[in-house]
Amino acid sequence: MLRWLSISAGCLAAIMGTTTLLHAQSSALRSAWEGVYTAAQADRGKASYSSNCARCHGEGLEGRDEIAPLKDSHFMSNWEGQTVADLVQRVRGTMPLDRPGSLSSATSTDIVAYLLQQNGLPAGNAELPSDSGAGSNIRIDSLAPPGVTAPAAPPAAPPAPAQGGLAPVNSAPNPYGRVDNFLKLPAGRHMGSTSTVAGDSHGNIWLAERCGENDCNGSPLDPVLEFDAKGNFIKSFGAGQILFPHGIWIDKNDHIWIADNHNNGKIGDVVLEFDQNGKILKTLGKPGIAGSDAQTFHEPNAVLIAPNGDIFVSDGHGGDTITTAAHSPTMGNSRVVKLDPDGKFLMQWGSHGSGPGEFQTPHCLAMDSAGRLFVGDRSNNRIQIFDQNGKFIAAWSQFSRPSGCYIDKNDVLYVSDSESRDRPGYAYHPGWKRGVRVGSAKTGVVTAFIPDEIDDPAVGASGGEGVWADPSGAIYNAEVYQKAVVRYVPK
Ligand code: HEC
Repeated sequence: MLRWLSISAGCLAAIMGTTTLLHAQSSALRSAWEGVYTAAQADRGKASYSSNCARCHGEGLEGRDEIAPLKDSHFMSNWEGQTVADLVQRVRGTMPLDRPGSLSSATSTDIVAYLLQQNGLPAGNAELPSDSGAGSNIRIDSLAPPGVTAPAAPPAAPPAPAQGGLAPVNSAPNPYGRVDNFLKLPAGRHMGSTSTVAGDSHGNIWLAERCGENDCNGSPLDPVLEFDAKGNFIKSFGAGQILFPHGIWIDKNDHIWIADNHNNGKIGDVVLEFDQNGKILKTLGKPGIAGSDAQTFHEPNAVLIAPNGDIFVSDGHGGDTITTAAHSPTMGNSRVVKLDPDGKFLMQWGSHGSGPGEFQTPHCLAMDSAGRLFVGDRSNNRIQIFDQNGKFIAAWSQFSRPSGCYIDKNDVLYVSDSESRDRPGYAYHPGWKRGVRVGSAKTGVVTAFIPDEIDDPAVGASGGEGVWADPSGAIYNAEVYQKAVVRYVPK
């Protein structure tokens, strides 16, 4: 076990005799979600962090070797329930590790404002004071308590409106009719969670679902199922070979590619190529071994085969801006990997972040007729478009928070949002409705919107994660939460 994992913030705060939650639990207890620092303060903190902390904790707070990351699930689960004063005290009293106590309380407080900001807690109108004990009534929560909203902060300079701008795009018409239970499973089977549906050149529909549950580990069932164009079951395969099918791609040879997002120490964390009969032709990555180098993957989300046979994999499901303790404590990968048609590593790009070419959960992949690669950068609430060598072309926000994406022969882009919610915390994307947005991969204009039938921020995810459209324009939405595939037919 790494050293930093064994020292919990709570235990240190107790040893150091700083304010504990018990002391702080007075009627005046506030949440750090209420906007308890200012953006200007976080900016000052950023500069101080850079010169005093980055060499050990990393410029992006990502941690290093045995040094704790200062953001995402590790940090938030460590500090959950502690107070902001505890955090200031921890920084002031023990950091920088080699010269503790060398920073003023004002500087330490500014750095804490920066840490809060980087962990997704909103800025407000008043600075966090640096007097001793300040912040002892402010609790750190990983998710915003219900009803808590930050006071309107002074508007930051809006990001350049990337074709469509940032105002929620919910109002396009819905020219589709809904069909449930179109795919008929074999007798005795029921649908598990699914994020993968695609079609082959014979007009057949391929689905990978998670063995009637949301995980195939230990299941005797086949997760990969083939149906005809009318939804009748044809055959299945894959039992014992796939743990958690997350992405699917069918190439021009009608081979079925699956990105397996989980790992049980024996299999998983790989991309598999099957022929139509379920024979494995290629295994990319090392089965059961998570990694971030040229030979391994960690939680690969999606796979796409370019017309020339080059293979693209979007790798890394962890490390969302705000994650829950249920997620892996490491940040995981955040990259697109390009391999040649034989599976040899060619290049990769991307790292955690929200700048151009950086990702937070590159969740889906699609390619338009011009060969541009669309990456659904889910926790950044945007699609990023690249050339096939990773050169950044554009970022689009108008298709909302992408879980699934697909581009058909006519450059119609289909994007499913299964997560956006109004409640601050994970997937905070106020005003945006979940559902499928349909538009043009050429112009970026959204022309249709199919709202998800569940519109409840208490449900972490709902509606389609995987999306595909058949040649007639019918849309198939593969749903994790509802454990269903819904077909939407143009009216
Ligand atoms: C010389 C390397 C080094 C420098 C510089 C450094 N740290 Fe650390 N930091 C560590 C190590 C190692 C740990 C884990 C061991 C421990 O808990 O003391 C740690 C732990 C922490 C923790 C607790 C992590 C958690 O999740 O509970 C915080 C917070 C922290 N550092 C903040 C800072 C800040 C802010 C700065 C800059 C003012 C800073 N550190 C500078 C090495 C460093």
